Formats: sequence, structure tokens, C-alpha cells
Amino acid sequence: MTAALKSAVIGTGVISKQHLSFLQESELANIVGVCDLSPAAASYAANTFGAAAAYTSYTEMLEKAKPDVVHILTPPKTHFPIATDCLQAGSHVICEKPVAPSYSEFKDLWQVSQACDRILIEDHNYRFNSPVRAIKNWVEDGTLGDIQDVEIRIALNLRGGGRYADKNLPSPSHKMPAGVIHDFITHLSYLLLEFLPDIDFNRISAAWSNHAKDDLFKYDDLDALIIGVGGTHGRLRFSCYTAPDCFSITVRGNKGYAETDLFQPYLRCVKPRSGGQQLSPLVNHFVNGWSLMSASARNFKNKVMQKTPYEGLHYLLGQTYQAVSAGQTPPINFNDMARTSQLVEALLAEKNRL
Ligand SMILES: NC(=O)c1ccc[n+]([C@@H]2O[C@H](COP(=O)([O-])OP(=O)(O)OC[C@H]3O[C@@H](n4cnc5c(N)ncnc54)[C@H](O)[C@@H]3O)[C@@H](O)[C@H]2O)c1
Repeated sequence: MTAALKSAVIGTGVISKQHLSFLQESELANIVGVCDLSPAAASYAANTFGAAAAYTSYTEMLEKAKPDVVHILTPPKTHFPIATDCLQAGSHVICEKPVAPSYSEFKDLWQVSQACDRILIEDHNYRFNSPVRAIKNWVEDGTLGDIQDVEIRIALNLRGGGRYADKNLPSPSHKMPAGVIHDFITHLSYLLLEFLPDIDFNRISAAWSNHAKDDLFKYDDLDALIIGVGGTHGRLRFSCYTAPDCFSITVRGNKGYAETDLFQPYLRCVKPRSGGQQLSPLVNHFVNGWSLMSASARNFKNKVMQKTPYEGLHYLLGQTYQAVSAGQTPPINFNDMARTSQLVEALLAEKNRL
């Protein structure tokens, strides 16, 4: 039996529920502290998830609780200084995206992690959702052939209500360089890189628009074209206007294509079937129709059980804790984070704007 790692959480807002429920259930973790600037939020999280203590100062928590692993779940602009302090205090860091505001600051933070001999991980949770892992397997085993075209699309009616639409208490995301879309752009980027790893950073065009032209939203639409080194195509879309909400991924190769929607998970794979060229379209319809029906039943059950699209986060945290406990390589490495950060930067660069 491996001894449980001492875990702590900084920031007990919306996403902390996912990290804390993982920690509460995992045999590899023991929650030694939670911290939030709000004492009420910190003690609520401590009571709900069984943490040993609640703090309002993370430096005090680092000193007293001496965590092996810290989850940084605060707003993006705080990640860099907090992660630096945690690494220097001797803790491994799992940080919510974006881990740093720029590629160069990411590299600085990585240097700190290396100098302190600690793990630094940016949360790339959707890479680990089961439909994404299934499509990845089809890419790796050659089912889809050579990958030519990848499209990742998020449609969210953020203007329709909720915290991003609140004018009286504006979300801190509005202040980020890409406004609220910045909160989602890391997901779009690491997912594209998962299927199109060789991106030519000099062939990127991004159209950022604000359809409503109001004061709150900087942008409400992103349409980006990314050309791969061998001429492959990637497209990233974020839209507050198209309906219904979706998080769709389509990966097309020269043998077939696969698609999913992470908000209503299903898997569709269109490829040559054993019936030959004539019967393949029919067999594809039959097989995919059946998998859509099973997905509907599964998604209905998930709705009733109040399951969220965060299954990938739980998987990633499980893999990370196993790696840290066994002294092995974590599931997200320098290259994953560096290229994601470079792609985010390229999408924002003035020279690449349409
Ligand atoms: N991976 C995902 O799918 C996903 C989903 C949602 C949010 N996020 C990311 O998680 C992070 C947090 O997002 P959220 O939606 O939970 O935000 P939130 O605003 O709900 O919560 C942030 C919390 O951090 C606390 N905080 C701020 N500064 C602090 C400090 N110095 N010390 C202690 N506590 C501090 C705030 O009081 C607040 O309770 C962001 O980086 C966001 O992009 C990721």
C-alpha cells in the first residue's frame, strides 16, 4: 500500500468541487487543507469534503500543512505567483488552466519546477474524457488513416445568463486579453494539438469578433484556421450565438472520420466497413445509429445522476496521483503545456488576426 499524499486546494470556487470530490474519494490523497480568501467559502469546502483545516492565507497553509500536492484553482492572473510559492515550498503543483499568462512566463515557471524538482501540471482535462481517448486510439491504430483535418467547436450561450453575463458583478475573465473566450481557449488549443501535433505557428489566422458590440464582452466569437506542417488543417471555433450548446470534436483522416460532443457524449466513426464500398455507408448508418441510441440512454442516466463532463478531470487526477506516488512521469509533460501555450499566444497575436 502506498501512503496517501498530503493534498491541499487553493481557491474553493466553481471548479474546486470536481478536484475536491476526487480527493475525497481517492485512497491516494488526504486533504490536509483548503484555502480561499473568503473564510466562509474555505470552511464550507473543508466541511463538505472533509479537509483537515480551512485557511484564508495560502502561505500559512503551505507552512502549517506542508502539502505534497497543491491544486491551484484560483483566477488565472493569480496562478503564476501562487504556483511559484507552492513549488518553492516543496509541493507538486496541479494548476488550473491557463497555468501562466504567456509562453515565456510558462517557461519561467517550468524552470522553477525543475529547480525545485517538483511536478508542474496544467489541467488539460478534456484530453482525458473517454470519447477523446477513444478517438485518439482510432488515430493511433490507423483506423482513420493519416489525419488531415480537425475541428473543435464550443458553442455556449454565455450572454443568455449566468456569471459571464452578470454586469453588476463582472467575471474576472472579461479582463483577460481574449475576454471570456480566454477561459476556454486552452481547452480548444490542447485538444487541437492532441490530434494535429505538428502545427506551423506561422500559418495561423484568427478572426475575433464581438457581434453584440457591448461593453461587457470583449469578444463573443472566435474562428481560427491553423495549418499543420504537412498542409493539414485545423479549425477552432467558439461561438456565443450558434445553438444548441455543444463541445464538438471532428477528426478526419484519409480513411475515415470520427466525431463526438463532450457535452452530450456519443461516438460516431465513419470508415470503410467489411461490406465493401457499396454497403459501407449503410453499415456505418446502422452501427452509428445504434451507438447514438445507446449514448442517449447513457446520457439520460448521467443527467439523472447529475454527472458532468468532468470525467476526464477525475481520470487525469487519478493518473497524476498514481504517477506522483510511484515517482513516475505524469500524464501531461513539458511539450504538451509549452505547445498549448504557444498556440494560445499565436491565436491572440495581432499579426495573425483577420
Ligand atoms: N478545467 C476546466 O474545465 C475548468 C472549468 C472551470 C474553471 N476552470 C479554471 O479554474 C480556475 C478557477 O475558476 P473558477 O470558475 O473555479 O473560479 P471561481 O471564481 O468560482 O473561484 C475562484 C476562487 O479563488 C479564490 N481566490 C482568489 N484568489 C485567491 C487567493 N490568492 N488565495 C485563495 N483563494 C483565492 C476566490 O475567492 C474564489 O473563491 C480558473 O483558472 C478557470 O479558468 C477550469
